[in-house]
Amino acid sequence: MATVIVVGAQWGDEGKGKLVDVLTEKADIVARYQGGHNAGHTVVINDEKYILHLIPSGILHKNTVCIIGNGVVVEPAALISEITGLAKRGIKVSDNLLISRNAHLIMPYHIALDNAGEKSRGKKCIGTTGRGIGPTYVDKMARSGIRVGDLLYPDAFKEKLKTNLKHINFLMKNLYGTRSFSAQKIFTEYSGYAEILKKHIADTDLVINTAAAAGKNLLLEGAQGTFLDIDHGTYPYVTSSSSVAGGACTGLGIGPTKISKVLGVVKAYTTRVGSGPFPTELNDSVGEAIRAKGGEFGSTTGRPRRCGWLDTVILRHAAMVNGFSGLAITKLDILDGLDKIKICTAYRFRGKLYKDYPKDLEILENCTPVYEEVKGWNTSTIGIREFRKLPAEARSYIKRIEELVGVKAHIISTGQKRNELIKIRDQF
Ligand code: GDP
Ligand code: IMO
Ligand code: MG
Repeated sequence: MATVIVVGAQWGDEGKGKLVDVLTEKADIVARYQGGHNAGHTVVINDEKYILHLIPSGILHKNTVCIIGNGVVVEPAALISEITGLAKRGIKVSDNLLISRNAHLIMPYHIALDNAGEKSRGKKCIGTTGRGIGPTYVDKMARSGIRVGDLLYPDAFKEKLKTNLKHINFLMKNLYGTRSFSAQKIFTEYSGYAEILKKHIADTDLVINTAAAAGKNLLLEGAQGTFLDIDHGTYPYVTSSSSVAGGACTGLGIGPTKISKVLGVVKAYTTRVGSGPFPTELNDSVGEAIRAKGGEFGSTTGRPRRCGWLDTVILRHAAMVNGFSGLAITKLDILDGLDKIKICTAYRFRGKLYKDYPKDLEILENCTPVYEEVKGWNTSTIGIREFRKLPAEARSYIKRIEELVGVKAHIISTGQKRNELIKIRDQF
């Protein structure tokens, strides 16, 4: 029995979805703790590819209960379309999916505000996914949000909606010069969603804690990554939720004393989608080659991901703020065939060496990465399942990452598929 948090160590898309799918084999419950359908988690089983946005990646296992926690923001139409999409492919989504009544609803005006806000930021835009994530969390914190549980009380739902629209429509008209929203139209639309979703609404904190007390295995799934976290990321170029491990406790209602392990998912190189600092970014043919080989295009928006070398400055910081107990290093196979591989060990800025992650945007945007060069390997690592079978240079690369980050690798992923994986240490 254990409770394991899976968290991205970089800027998202580290391969959390694949890891969660694999670890679900031994989990009774898989629970998402933050974010919304800005996430895109790809799971490949045999030759079937599934992209999950809101539903935990554990859904592909028949006997696992999946939970969307209170820390998540839910766009009901997107959720329903995900449920029906899975059902069409023979994946059962019924009483195995529970949604916290305290999760907040993304409303049509949040999406409009997200896009209008980005437009008005111009060159300084964040490059959001345009899914309404930021404005929904703004309303949550402003205490004017509408929660999933409100769907069960139509009169109160309508009142809240009307109150919010007074303010929203004023902003829409006078600040952004765009269309206004009709309370009746939204109410009718969301009443339809309520009918479909009501059977999934539950007291998920109770479910989770009862399961933990009964000695069940729980897997807590993070979306995005440490450097997209609202507090610990490259603010303001972040998402609006707590993606770090601590977010799992608040985003699900489980106490820190119940957490057994925190698995940090690290891509063997670095990628980022959207704007913001990225010290090890490669704007050259190597970066392009990694993007092409790694299929580095957003699974939610299809945007090309920015690619660069592994950065252990950010990884050491991620290990610290999340308290990683182990690393899962993914996409090692994408580095196959490279002559030389670079690892960033520090940054240099105005003559000063930074080994610890500097939080100032000014430094992050203008520093020069300090690299250590290691030898690549010219054989394929795809599908290797034992550490000793990796080429010697790949083993050295992993060992060097462990040394520089100060955390051991527990899992190494060597391909997209479920079984393309080296398990060094069990999580449950
Ligand atoms: P997530 O958001 O962290 O779940 O990551 P994404 O699913 O957005 O992006 C990771 C991509 O890499 C997906 O297409 C995965 O199928 C793929 N992937 C994960 N692990 C590996 C691996 O070890 N090797 C290869 N080649 N692809 C992988
Ligand atoms: P997964 O779970 C990578 C990025 C967006 C943008 C910033 C803010 O698949 O790793 P938002 O729409 O959240 O307000 O956008 O965060 N972003 C992601 N980048 N992977 C994700 O999720 C992301 N979710 C949001 O590109 O830069
Ligand atoms: Mg992703």
